[in-house]
Amino acid sequence: MWFIVSAMVTRILSASWLVLACLTFAVPALAQDARAGREKAKKCVVCHGKYGIAVAPNVPSLAGENANYIASQLKAFKSGKRKHQQMSIIAADLEDADIKDLARWFSLIKVVATPPDLN
Ligand code: HEC
Repeated sequence: MWFIVSAMVTRILSASWLVLACLTFAVPALAQDARAGREKAKKCVVCHGKYGIAVAPNVPSLAGENANYIASQLKAFKSGKRKHQQMSIIAADLEDADIKDLARWFSLIKVVATPPDLN
């Protein structure tokens, strides 16, 4: 019996090491993507704002938006599935790595939501 228990403990411990090892590598990789994205996002600032809060009423904010959603929309603009006079041109120049980095950067910007005071 003790043998089975100790084998289980060993399994659990090695599994947690694996998770820990993955996190150790994954977190710096995310930061690296976001750092690259911050640079690449300089082209987006004029419309989407420095931190992804849009500066014009016809432009959506990107701050805190889900990374998969941002990436899927950029790919849709690039492929022509989604069309927009400006975004289609901008997305056409983006490589997959650019899309990943930009999506990471905008998704990691924290947005605080405060509900309106309606009494
Ligand atoms: C000239 C202004 C302009 C620039 C520069 C610009 N965008 Fe946009 N972007 C827009 C507008 C306007 C829309 C809304 C498109 C629509 O109505 O379909 C949009 C939409 C988007 C969307 C879809 C958001 C959603 O909620 O569906 C993403 C993602 C996006 N832009 C990313 C970027 C990125 C990344 C850059 C920089 C590489 C960038 N944009 C540069 C104007 C701009």
